[in-house]
Amino acid sequence: MRTAVKFGGSVITRKSEPLSIRSDVLVRLASELSVFRARHRDHELVVVHGGGSFGHPLVEECLHTAGHIDRGCFSRVSFYMDFLNHVVVEALLSSELPAVGVSPRSICRGVEYADCDVEVVGRLIDAGVVPVLHGDVTLSKDGFKVVSGDDLVWYLTKSLGVGRVVFVTDVDGVYDKDPRTASDAKVLSGMHINEVLGAAEFWGVRDVTGGMLGKLRKPLILGVKGVEVYVVNGLIPGNLLNALEGKKVVGSVLWV
Ligand SMILES: Nc1ncnc2c1ncn2[C@@H]1O[C@H](COP(=O)(O)OP(=O)(O)OP(=O)(O)O)[C@@H](O)[C@H]1O
Ligand SMILES: [Mg+2]
Repeated sequence: MRTAVKFGGSVITRKSEPLSIRSDVLVRLASELSVFRARHRDHELVVVHGGGSFGHPLVEECLHTAGHIDRGCFSRVSFYMDFLNHVVVEALLSSELPAVGVSPRSICRGVEYADCDVEVVGRLIDAGVVPVLHGDVTLSKDGFKVVSGDDLVWYLTKSLGVGRVVFVTDVDGVYDKDPRTASDAKVLSGMHINEVLGAAEFWGVRDVTGGMLGKLRKPLILGVKGVEVYVVNGLIPGNLLNALEGKKVVGSVLWV
């Protein structure tokens, strides 16, 4: 079986503090992945991480000042995302996982499924390594654009026979409404993603990749089917490992 794990920028970085990594959380998530892999040798993994405070603030600044991603912005965002990717890969290597960074801007000629050559990632998985992709900027025919890490998770899932997707985030799952303002807000679980989209409110889309809604919409657009989808809180120790092992989690257990 193949599982795709998305390390949300919300959990591996502090999204409100530019260029700030939650090293303790990252190291723990890496060790949970490593424990899983040691227990399930034949289970293949691919990792995607988000931009968090290494991607979103810079992109927003460019969009605000230039109105688009110019070449200066493209190079800076590329640099900082590569930097974050190195830190993530280093954490995985330190946990004895054979992780290899893959730069989406080198395999995508745009931001859509058809623009990305994910077959090369499949070959790496076949060779027993753990590819580590990330939200990125890429050159499309209409200029420099953001390719979302969440979208990449679904592109890999559609092409590479991934049976389970685990989104590791900073919240306890997909809520029906904002728990900060509604005391009766509940985490939705045991549902098809389509049902979740009808039952949940989505708030605070602070970046161009669409927050929680961005994660759940894409598989329906791509026609992905037969996949288990976990949205779990990565700030809770053991929660990622429990999701990987199909045990009880703090989070939403969904399917598409
Ligand atoms: N219905 C909802 N249930 C849970 N969280 C929601 C919901 N609607 C919006 N959100 C927001 O989505 C956020 C998670 O998405 P966000 O894009 O910020 O994180 P991420 O994808 O982990 O980070 P990155 O984009 O950097 O990888 C939560 O922190 C929460 O504020
Ligand atoms: Mg996001």
